[in-house]
Amino acid sequence: MPPLRLSWLSWHARNLCWPGSRLGVKSIPPAKHLVARSFGAAAASYDAVASLQRSVGRSLLKRGPGQAGIRRILDVGAGTGFCSVLLAEHYPMAEVLALDIAEGMLRQARSRFSGNCVGGDAEALPFASQSLDLVVSNLAIQWCTCSLKAFAEFGRVLRPAGHLLFATFGPKTLWELRHAWASVDTLTHVNEFIATERLHEGLCAAGFDGIHIEAKVRCFDYPDVMSLMRELKGLGARNLTSGRPRHLVGKRALAHMMAAYPRGKPGVDSSIQASFEIIMGSAHRAGGGP
Ligand SMILES: C[S@@+](CC[C@H](N)C(=O)[O-])C[C@H]1O[C@@H](n2cnc3c(N)ncnc32)[C@H](O)[C@@H]1O
Repeated sequence: MPPLRLSWLSWHARNLCWPGSRLGVKSIPPAKHLVARSFGAAAASYDAVASLQRSVGRSLLKRGPGQAGIRRILDVGAGTGFCSVLLAEHYPMAEVLALDIAEGMLRQARSRFSGNCVGGDAEALPFASQSLDLVVSNLAIQWCTCSLKAFAEFGRVLRPAGHLLFATFGPKTLWELRHAWASVDTLTHVNEFIATERLHEGLCAAGFDGIHIEAKVRCFDYPDVMSLMRELKGLGARNLTSGRPRHLVGKRALAHMMAAYPRGKPGVDSSIQASFEIIMGSAHRAGGGP
C-alpha cells in the first residue's frame, strides 16, 4: 500500500472561534480558500458517500416551521443541494436560496436544484439584514472559522422571529479514530467539534430565543479503517489545521493506528464502528414580540 496523505478531517475546536488559545486548542482556522478547494474537489464524489448527511438533513427539516409566513429561505453550506431541493418541496410558495463557499459544490447543486445558487461565506452572508424567514444549515457550520460569527450572520439576515435550523457534529464524533491516532503521535488527525453548551452560548450571544438543541450519537459499521477514511475523503472533509501532519503518513504509522483502532473483538475480524454525534438545533431570532 502506498503512503497516504492522511490529511482529512480535522480542525475545529472546543472553542467557538479561532484561535482557541483560551482552551489550549493547537490548531488555527482552516483558510477559507482551502475549505472551498477541498469541498470543490470532492463535489463529484460527495453524493455517493453522503448518506449520513442526507439522513440528518431529512430529520432536520422535519423540525422546521409550517409554511405560514415563510417566503424566503436560505440553505447555508448547501453542498450539492440535497436540502435545498427538499426545502423547495416543503415550502412551495417560498423562494429557496442555496449558498456555498465551494464553486464545485454549487455546480453540482445547479444540476439538481432550479433555485438560486449563490457563492458566499456563512460568516459574511451576501444578503440584506432581516431579509429571510428561515435559515437552514445542515452539517456545514463546523467548517466555519468562527461558528459564533456564522450565528451572528444568521441572526442578522433573519427577520425578527425568523427561524434557524442547523445540524452539526459534536465532540464524540470519530472518537475512535482520534483515539487510534493518539497512539501514533501528538498531531491533529481528527476534528475536535464544539459541545452543545458552547453552541447554546453562541446562539444566545447572537440574539436567538427559543433555543432547542439535541445531541445523539449514531454508530456505523465499516469493513475496515481504510473504508472509513476513504469515505471521509470522499466527503471533502480534509484536515486543514496547523496541527495536521505536514508529511505523508508512512505505512508503519498507518498500520499502528489501524491496530489501535477500538474493536469489539480484537483479531476476530477487521470490521469497525465509527461514532458520529449529531447535534441538531432550532431557534428563532429575538424581537418578534411576545
Ligand atoms: C458536509 S457538506 C454539507 C452539504 C449539505 N448541507 C448537505 O447536507 O449535504 C459542508 C458544506 O459546507 C460548505 N462550507 C464550508 N464552509 C463554508 C462557509 N464558510 N460558508 C459557506 N459554505 C461553507 C462546504 O463547501 C460544503 O459544501
